[in-house]
Amino acid sequence: MDKMDDFFILKSSVVSHDTLSSGSVSWQSPSNIALVKYWGKHGEQLPQNASISFTLNNCHTKTTLHYAKKESKGFDFEVYLDGKREEGFEPKIVSFFKRVEKYIPFIHEYSFKIETSNSFPHSSGIASSASGMSALSLCLMDMERLLNPHLIDAHFFFKKASFLSRLGSGSACRSIEGPLIVWGGHKEIEHSSDLFGTQYPYEIHANFLEYQDTILLVDKGEKQVSSTVGHGLMHGHAFADARFSQAYDNLSQMKTIFKSGDLDAFIALVESEALTLHAMMMTSHPYFILMKPKTLEIINHIWAYREETGSKVCFTLDAGANVHVLYPKNEKEEIQLFIEKELSKYCQNGQYINDCVGNGAKKL
Ligand code: DP6
Repeated sequence: MDKMDDFFILKSSVVSHDTLSSGSVSWQSPSNIALVKYWGKHGEQLPQNASISFTLNNCHTKTTLHYAKKESKGFDFEVYLDGKREEGFEPKIVSFFKRVEKYIPFIHEYSFKIETSNSFPHSSGIASSASGMSALSLCLMDMERLLNPHLIDAHFFFKKASFLSRLGSGSACRSIEGPLIVWGGHKEIEHSSDLFGTQYPYEIHANFLEYQDTILLVDKGEKQVSSTVGHGLMHGHAFADARFSQAYDNLSQMKTIFKSGDLDAFIALVESEALTLHAMMMTSHPYFILMKPKTLEIINHIWAYREETGSKVCFTLDAGANVHVLYPKNEKEEIQLFIEKELSKYCQNGQYINDCVGNGAKKL
């Protein structure tokens, strides 16, 4: 076991929990969009390669965790989405609780009501697992802090929240802080770790400040293949090793790009990462395609627009058909016009979400 893993257990075992009977805590956590993608994991939610993401600002989950001390042992909780009981979420929470119980043993001693809501529409194809697991982990850390205030400083609080989030959903560990978060050990990025997300610690050129992300909702249906299954298909994948070392090199290159502000290099790297992610899906066994014809229409329109205008707009994709349109703030007006006029027709019901880079979770 990693030394840090031990450290989290050790700290949690000295928690004295005799003071907290019932109450509630609330957090708002953002979604994030990866520039270098996490695709492939091993062990207990450990990434096969380091990834980096922009934390978003407008797409978020708000979660209130109500707790009440109980006598019996074992997990006891209910989940509500927008005020309605959502039993469909509960198996995922059970596996999360099983993974985190050794780090926050007090969860056995409380019954919980988890109330959650997202700022983005249901089944928009925007994964709520990153923002949702982050918000829940922050609520649980808040409880741990209430139980043991003198042990937990701000630095430890966010680090352990990210550590717990990772055990719920890998990319969730990048949804605690902002604006740029690295997850996965990388020799050239100090303090980077496979166990939790860390803030990108180096110079970031002004070109990347307040970077914009408009999410085009192409397909709001349920994905045919979940991310978790997709990650699994990287085991024994013919291109796995090449992909993991490519991601590693791309993160090194990203460091140079963030410093220089070279937007052409940024575009080339980010689009290649998105297409490589989908190429991995298309070349796994079983193979699958999550892009839709409209995804490709949008990509071609973005390329044509860039060619015509010299714009620095580009796209990225996550594990679905939606397109994240990324652009610098100084192009906001033109690009939003371009999206409305030329891209919104490819979105389901013309729907898209304007977002931008944000600074992380907030206590409510
Ligand atoms: C394509 O974090 O959703 O968005 O760890 O199984 O919950 P689990 O997977 P998840 O995978 C996200 C994959 C991705 C790329 C990324 O965000 O880096």
